[in-house]
Amino acid sequence: MRRVTALALVAGGTLAVVAGGALARGRLVGRGPEAPLPDDDAVFTVYAPGGRYSFICNGPVGWVTSKLMPIIEAGVYGAVAEMLDLQPDDELLDIGCGPGAFLATKARHVRRVVGLDASPLMLREAERRLADRIAAGTAQLVFGSAAVLPFDDGEFSAVTAINAPVQHAEAFRVLHPGGRLVFADPSPRRSPSDPASAWGARLYDEAEHRRMFEDAGFTDVTIRSLGVPPLGGELLVSCRRPAAS
Ligand SMILES: C[S@@+](CC[C@H](N)C(=O)[O-])C[C@H]1O[C@@H](n2cnc3c(N)ncnc32)[C@H](O)[C@@H]1O
Repeated sequence: MRRVTALALVAGGTLAVVAGGALARGRLVGRGPEAPLPDDDAVFTVYAPGGRYSFICNGPVGWVTSKLMPIIEAGVYGAVAEMLDLQPDDELLDIGCGPGAFLATKARHVRRVVGLDASPLMLREAERRLADRIAAGTAQLVFGSAAVLPFDDGEFSAVTAINAPVQHAEAFRVLHPGGRLVFADPSPRRSPSDPASAWGARLYDEAEHRRMFEDAGFTDVTIRSLGVPPLGGELLVSCRRPAAS
């Protein structure tokens, strides 16, 4: 009898865990496309949750990363916010939003914020940070890929991608004419032992960033260096979609 009770408890517990996991996943995954993530695409490999370095954004290491990132990147968030000059009537998309710290700390006054990420773990952290705004209907989190943004043409007035992948043509498409974008990427002048280089990331210099954004149609490309390589260092690219486009 005791064995039956134990078995029933184990079965019930397992069912509860599976159902809870499915529910939690459904809340996030249900908001985005089911399209496969572009893990094999070199541009997305380094930070991609399903790729070679997936542990950075998933599992116990991902959890630690989600807690440390907002602390380590606080200075970058400040510089991005300054360059973007967010206004109350902006509609902001943060591509690769991670734990949502940029949206939660620098976009509180913005009418609508949307965070997109390919890691359910990161999205759960972001959900915790943005709970009030999600409840108020002014923030939304979407599971999906930077390569195929699940948004309408011209849906946003501002886009950010902070140490996260950006697909230039897609970012251009979802911005409305005149909309602004700020992108932060590790500097190629970092030391070769810096994780971004050591893990195989392809780091681009100023000229390469400029060419990629201009080729996609962006104008007013301005590039700023932040931090001091080789110990750290970021390149911050700011640009806009032309008003008549
Ligand atoms: C280094 S973290 C930066 C997170 C956040 N932008 C910040 O600065 O706090 C990179 C983020 O990009 C997400 N990511 C990686 N590849 C992605 C892809 N192809 N599409 C969408 N998000 C992606 C990861 O899950 C991770 O949360």
